[in-house]
Amino acid sequence: MKLIKIGMIGFGNVGHGFIQALIEKRTFFRNELGLEFVVTAITDIRYGTIYAPDGLPLKELVSAKDFYGMDPSFYQDWNTIQMIRNAESDVIIELSFTDLKTGEPAVLHCQEALLSGKHVITSNKGPIALHYSMLKGLARDNGVKIGCEGTVMSGTPALRLATDSLLITGISEIKGILNGTTNFILTEMEHGSTYAEALKEAQILGYAEADPSGDVEGFDTAGKIAILSHLVFGTFIKPEDIEREGISDITLDDVQKALKDKLHWKLIGAVKKTENGVEASVKPVLLHEDNPLANIKGAGNAIQYRSDLLGEITLIGPGAGRKETAAALIEDLIHIVQ
Ligand code: HSE
Repeated sequence: MKLIKIGMIGFGNVGHGFIQALIEKRTFFRNELGLEFVVTAITDIRYGTIYAPDGLPLKELVSAKDFYGMDPSFYQDWNTIQMIRNAESDVIIELSFTDLKTGEPAVLHCQEALLSGKHVITSNKGPIALHYSMLKGLARDNGVKIGCEGTVMSGTPALRLATDSLLITGISEIKGILNGTTNFILTEMEHGSTYAEALKEAQILGYAEADPSGDVEGFDTAGKIAILSHLVFGTFIKPEDIEREGISDITLDDVQKALKDKLHWKLIGAVKKTENGVEASVKPVLLHEDNPLANIKGAGNAIQYRSDLLGEITLIGPGAGRKETAAALIEDLIHIVQ
C-alpha cells in the first residue's frame, strides 16, 4: 500500500467535498489502486492550522464547519507558508479564494509548495490563468507536478481531453458555456425567476464565486478562456485583456421573448487561432434550440473543440459545485501519484 500525505489550504465548500470524496472512495483506492490517502494538515485563513502527521480524522472534519471543536492537540501556530514547509505532506491541495487580477495568495502558496518538492493540485483559476508557465517550470525543476483540471468545468475532464488526446489532432477553435452560475441564472429565468432570485439560489447552491460579480460579469469565463488558451494553444492572454460582456443586463423579459422564438441566451466564451495570433471573447449569445449548446441547463457546462482531423467535438458535464470540483481534485491526485 502506498501512503500519500496531503496538506490542504482552504476549508470551504470544495475542501469539504474533497474530504467527503476521500472517505467515499477509500475502499476503491485501497483495493483497486493500492493507495492510502491521509490529510495531515489543513490551513484556513479564518480558522488557523490543524496538523496530525499520521492523519486528521476525516469523518469528524467533513461534518465540522470550522476547527474549533477539534482535538486541541491538532492546533499548530503555523501560517499557510509555514504549514506548506513544515507539515509532512507529498501533495498540497490549494483551495484559497480566486483572484483573477493578481492570482494571490494562491500563486505564492503554489510556488512555496513546488519549491518544497511537493506536488500541487488546485481548482483556483488565478494562479493557472496568470502564471501557469512559471509554475509548470518550477514543478519540472523540482521533480513534482501541478494538476489544475478543476479550473475549467470542475470534474468534467475538459482540459485533460484537450491536452492528453485532442491536441495531436490539431485544435483550432474552442468555445463553450464555461460558467455554471450564469447558466443556472439564465435557465431559472426561462422558468420565470427574476435575475436576483436566480442569483441568490446559485449562491445558496454553492456555484457562485465569493464575489458573484466574477461570474455574472464574465470574469470567471474569461479566466477559463485564458487557461484554455495557455494550456491548449500555448498562448498566454491576460483574463482582463479578453473582450468581455456579462449577463447582468439581460432581463426576464429578454429571456422570455427569446424563448417564444425558440432562442436561448447563453454566456459563451471562445478562443480561436487566427493568422494574427489568438482571438478571445466572452459574451451573451442567442442560440437557436437546435444548437447543442442551447440545451445545456442549470449549472451544466459544455465545451466544443474544433479539430483539424476530427471536426467538432462537444463535451457536456457539470461545471461547478462542491462534489463536482472535488472530483477534479481526485482525478488530478490519482494521475499524479500513479
Ligand atoms: N463560479 C464558478 C461557476 C465555479 O459558476 O462556474 C466553477 O468554476
